[in-house]
Amino acid sequence: MEQQARILVADDDPQMQLAIKASLSRAGFDVVIAADGKAALELFEKRSFDLIISDQRMPEMTGQEFLAAVQARGTQVPFVMITAHGTITQAVEAMQLGAADFITKPFSAEELRRVVDRVLSPENRDFRSEEKKSRRGRAIITNDQMMIRVLEVAEAVARSDATVLVQGESGTGKELVARLVHSSSARCKGPFVAVNCAALPETLLESELFGHEKGAFTGALARKIGKFELAQGGTILLDEISEMELGLQAKLLRVLQEREVDRVGGRDPIAIDVRVVATTNRNLEMAVSEGKFRADLFYRLNVIPITLPPLRERRCDIKLLVRHFMQQYLGDSAPEISPAVLESLTAYSWPGNVREMQNAVERAAILSRGGTPTQEDFLLGTARTIDTTVAAAAAAVQSSAAEVSKVERQVVHVGTTVQQMEKTLILETLRATQNNRTQAAKLLGISIRTLRNKLNEYGAELGQSAEEARS
Ligand SMILES: Nc1ncnc2c1ncn2[C@@H]1O[C@H](COP(=O)(O)OP(=O)(O)OP(=O)(O)O)[C@@H](O)[C@H]1O
Ligand SMILES: [Mg+2]
Repeated sequence: MEQQARILVADDDPQMQLAIKASLSRAGFDVVIAADGKAALELFEKRSFDLIISDQRMPEMTGQEFLAAVQARGTQVPFVMITAHGTITQAVEAMQLGAADFITKPFSAEELRRVVDRVLSPENRDFRSEEKKSRRGRAIITNDQMMIRVLEVAEAVARSDATVLVQGESGTGKELVARLVHSSSARCKGPFVAVNCAALPETLLESELFGHEKGAFTGALARKIGKFELAQGGTILLDEISEMELGLQAKLLRVLQEREVDRVGGRDPIAIDVRVVATTNRNLEMAVSEGKFRADLFYRLNVIPITLPPLRERRCDIKLLVRHFMQQYLGDSAPEISPAVLESLTAYSWPGNVREMQNAVERAAILSRGGTPTQEDFLLGTARTIDTTVAAAAAAVQSSAAEVSKVERQVVHVGTTVQQMEKTLILETLRATQNNRTQAAKLLGISIRTLRNKLNEYGAELGQSAEEARS
């Protein structure tokens, strides 16, 4: 017989506790019961478990908050949420938060066993350990001196509790660095909680960050624990901090100064022990001078500034990252990229930085169907096109000025012609709509017939330019 799996059950209903315990103990599991999320979290921190089953509605800490807290501790223990009858949205939310499964009340002993068996089955476990590898293995790939220096600084400052501000263009790896600061710090066993400050309007963001009491405002049906509280003993990432409204900036400043939060509608402040890392892809100093960001908050956050260089300023990393992502998508059998293609990838400006590169490599891996990807497979910049005739025409247009002058008779030497702009716009729109001509025509404000005529024109151009090339 294999070793008994240990299951942590969080439920405030004594009858439910008894029923679950009886059913799972009979099936040979080692069952530990907690009366609410908070008590469960304490048990979870002391012992190791193979599975967590938690009720959604509990006093002190809801099932979702418990799940978020477990997730924030970076563990991979599968979590099953017990949801009330007819509340599928809660179940979906729980799954989105990372629950392995859910079970709806009322349920039978058999149903419960089925869910538990499924979640603990070897296939599921293997899947999860794979995931763990890729999540943990979020290695930061670089060979660039400036970037290596930046990472050394990040690791060194991690040991202190000082606030870190990570600046850099979008896709340069700011979140990776924020996680590195957390994992290199003494708080690494504590939670890592990320909040995107651009994702929510001010009032919602406020209760997201600081929590609220039941009845604090219309719609506050239950108490909510804020992200600062969830991050206790760990690190909070304030992502895209530049997007925070001035009013909330003032409240955040107070939290950072006093090291305590007030839940919205709450009476007593709650002391917090949280390391703050903020990121921005806008120049915060500029935002300060424009009056969009509080100077005092900026100085509070900017204790340790870390600036990530854009990918185009560390071109030696491009080859390294292409290979890394190719292997990530295709495994060890990933084909080598030809030197010519690598050269053009290295010359490209990568405005979306590593994120853009990751997407480009994924697309190339798909489009090349396991073969050696060509330059076209990477669909860089505007040369992303759809049906092959049109794609070839556009590639010819963009590949060199000489080609352009063959295809586009009216080409202007500096800049571009109206026809060229129109063509790029049409092809881009088609790409964006996944070649849905009806939708593209609507977006462009032209009839489908006009669109079809334009595409025929581009196709004919290709034939014409091929002829010219031959003559
Ligand atoms: N040096 C690197 N090595 C490996 N992967 C990287 C590296 N830099 C970034 N990535 C990957 O690129 C993607 C973007 O990185 P990340 O989310 O950290 O960037 P960001 O600066 O926070 O971007 P955004 O401004 O868009 O939020 C992620 O999938 C990340 O894993
Ligand atoms: Mg980010």
